[in-house]
Amino acid sequence: MGNQNPVGVFDSGVGGIGTLSALRRELPQEDFLYFGDTLHAPYGTKPREEVMACVTRVMTHLLSNHVKAVVIACNTATAVAAKELRETYDLPILGMEPALKPAHALRHGGSILVLATPMTLRLEKFQQLYARYGEGAIPLPCPGLMELVEQEANEQARRYLLELLHPYDLRTVDAVVLGCTHYPFLRGAIRRIVGRRPEIIDGSYGIAMQLRRRLEAADGLNESGVRGTVTFENSLDEPEILALSRALLD
Ligand code: DGL
Repeated sequence: MGNQNPVGVFDSGVGGIGTLSALRRELPQEDFLYFGDTLHAPYGTKPREEVMACVTRVMTHLLSNHVKAVVIACNTATAVAAKELRETYDLPILGMEPALKPAHALRHGGSILVLATPMTLRLEKFQQLYARYGEGAIPLPCPGLMELVEQEANEQARRYLLELLHPYDLRTVDAVVLGCTHYPFLRGAIRRIVGRRPEIIDGSYGIAMQLRRRLEAADGLNESGVRGTVTFENSLDEPEILALSRALLD
């Protein structure tokens, strides 16, 4: 593992940039190459094979840039492809999963709302997590919500969330799990709807700690003493998407 090589991070769009911020906070000396696959978004409502093909293309691209590790900053892509990628490639590959385990630990008898893409909630990975930590958990598929984040359609996203959360007695909700990396960008809107009581949890801090551990174990930490760089790339060949990516990181 070349310690000075970048860490590859990818998502179906700009959602994983929230995860990237957490990775940078934890590992400020690392260089990151972030790839947003906006041209092929959304992943969460596509057939599984199609998502697998997209992820394989992104992975090949990242490897051609000599990344030393890959963070799949996308719950959907992790559920579809992480296992197969780990069997295929010989480098640390980290993935996201809805933070149901920490939510379960915080639960005191109320419910846990799990917001994620239809694909994430359907596949075995989440089903296994649910079987272990799903007491009181209510999975809420959110088709179309990531698109509203990508389009910065804040008012539409607020209305979507109001409608989604309206049927639940929010006084008895202990936690809201943001099981898609796009949703932390809606944290403020979600907080205003659910009030102060429930915890709102996403997995980005956990994955940053995991990346530190994996790089340490492989003796692969960049210890140059210099602040690392972030390079953004996107399958959509438009300057606006790169500008949005930079703005979201800041
Ligand atoms: N950001 C994604 C996730 O964490 C994917 C959303 C999508 O492409 O549908 O699941």
